[in-house]
Amino acid sequence: MQIHYRTHLSHNITDAEIGTEIRLAGWAHRVRDLGQVAFVDLRDHSGLFQIVLETDFLAQNPNLRQIRQEYVITVTGTVRLRSTANPERHNGHLELCAREIRIINTALTPPIPIHEHTQAEELARMKYRYLDLRRPDQAKFLVLRHRVSQAIREYLNGLNFLEIETPYLTKSTPEGARDYVVPSRVHPGKFFALPQSPQLFKQLLMMSGLDRYYQIVRCFRDEDLRSDRQPEFTQVDIEVSFVTRDSIIQMVTGLMASAFIAAKKTFPKKIPHMTYEEAYSRYGTDRPDLRYDLSFHRLNSVFAASGFQVFTQVLDQNGEILGFKVPQKDTAFTRKFTDSMLTWIAMLGFKGVAVGHWREGTLHAPFAKFLSPDQILALQTRLTLTENDSVVLLAHTQKATLYTAMDLLRRKLAETLSLYEQEDAFVWIVDFPMFAEDDHGHLTAVHHPFTSPHPDDLEILKTTPSQARAQAYDIVWNGVEIGGGSIRIHDSQVQSQIFGLLGLSETEIAEKFGFFVDALQYGTPPHGGIALGLDRLIMMLAGTPSIRDVIAFPKTAQAQCPLSEAPSALSETQLNELKICLNTETPHVI
Ligand code: AMO
Repeated sequence: MQIHYRTHLSHNITDAEIGTEIRLAGWAHRVRDLGQVAFVDLRDHSGLFQIVLETDFLAQNPNLRQIRQEYVITVTGTVRLRSTANPERHNGHLELCAREIRIINTALTPPIPIHEHTQAEELARMKYRYLDLRRPDQAKFLVLRHRVSQAIREYLNGLNFLEIETPYLTKSTPEGARDYVVPSRVHPGKFFALPQSPQLFKQLLMMSGLDRYYQIVRCFRDEDLRSDRQPEFTQVDIEVSFVTRDSIIQMVTGLMASAFIAAKKTFPKKIPHMTYEEAYSRYGTDRPDLRYDLSFHRLNSVFAASGFQVFTQVLDQNGEILGFKVPQKDTAFTRKFTDSMLTWIAMLGFKGVAVGHWREGTLHAPFAKFLSPDQILALQTRLTLTENDSVVLLAHTQKATLYTAMDLLRRKLAETLSLYEQEDAFVWIVDFPMFAEDDHGHLTAVHHPFTSPHPDDLEILKTTPSQARAQAYDIVWNGVEIGGGSIRIHDSQVQSQIFGLLGLSETEIAEKFGFFVDALQYGTPPHGGIALGLDRLIMMLAGTPSIRDVIAFPKTAQAQCPLSEAPSALSETQLNELKICLNTETPHVI
């Protein structure tokens, strides 16, 4: 291909080009007109390069003084050494002495700064995302995303997986969020649901005998957004026939290692497993951040006979007391810090929180006076307190609230006190419960209803289903859930049993999943799979705290696109075509 616009990219100019004529094409990143001489930093997608417009050249081409920031130009000239090198810039010791400059296009003054490290307010950056992506600091995330996606594809192709597309216009897929729906014009009053995941279709592909499926696929979920959630996001979705949990874990470990190589990072050879039970009882969550310890201990027995009424009252109401030690952070665990923690935890609605320090062989804490020497010793033994350790204790009558608060407190403490002992910590959480039980005794699926029960718990399923474990697993990286999957139910009887336990009637099953239940009965092989959140994975690999950074055109936390202003109203004609009548009386609340 003949390239008229450029012979080189900024990044690739080396000493070998000194004295030769080259041509660059890009944007005027910064223009400095010093009168006799002018400098333009030309920016292309590879980097920046200094262009010099010398006195004679400027005199012959006075129109070039019109070049402004973001004008699109091509420059032909000779590479030479700069009189003063810029050590901060790659090949910053070289410049291009211009012989010819063409203005290819003019540009309005950008509404947001397009400089490496300056950042405008995020909403403005999202509105002008195409300009924000001109900043190498932002574009690099998409480059990384491309590399990692390609590495994942190559890895899976190498294992004989087939990349197969599944429908976007489909029926509701139960992943626990609300659906985004699309009205059908041809069938007025009927709606497609955009998939929350391709769960049912990938299982159907296993029933079709396709053996190994993957897809890098967009999923849609109408749910509360957080810094690691988007309403449309991408999964690396995988399903395999005749497979066990451990083979999937092994395969995903290899996949992650390939992704890490593409991101020039090292992935551990082996990732520890932790049961859900252990994760929950030690860290209060199924996605513990294991870069630091701060694991909890149940301290009911230590305080039961104590005079510390704040805690004994909680125990009287069947509550629980949890505590953990913060090792040897005496200096950082100051009064001011303690107060801010107490205020923060009080905001979560907690009264029963206590903080103390172990110094000179004893406990220093306002509540120490309510404990006997034996009780203090029991606390020390239980938490293995040594000189300069601090203790944090929390009590509540509601177990779920207490564990959630302890998880938040643990994360907050580690962040504020920089307690990280390692850069990266991965863990597979295994043996999830099949069901969660609400206050009315109703069961909901912890993963989704197609997850197979643990083979050892089939009897428990009949008697105390809330105790049954699932063959489900999640991979967690520094407290972020990167992926989750399970071995699936391949027996239609078991599937009916699970639907029954979830309280679905025969009619509901037929309506929602009739096609799937039918398919299960035509010789379904044992199968299982997983889905990794690609956006989250890239976010973590890039070391950026926001998922929006790694998505070309992300949505806000209010699920809006500031650039296109979607979602937007439909015209009267469109509404009529779809036979949709809006209830304009309902107040519109954002
Ligand atoms: P799950 O619902 O756990 O499993 O999703 C898999 C992974 O997708 C990512 N993820 C998200 N990323 C960004 N924004 C969101 N709103 C969002 N929701 C989920 C997470 C999560 O671990 N069908 C099953 C998988 C299976 O069983 O094979 C499923 O979708 O990283």
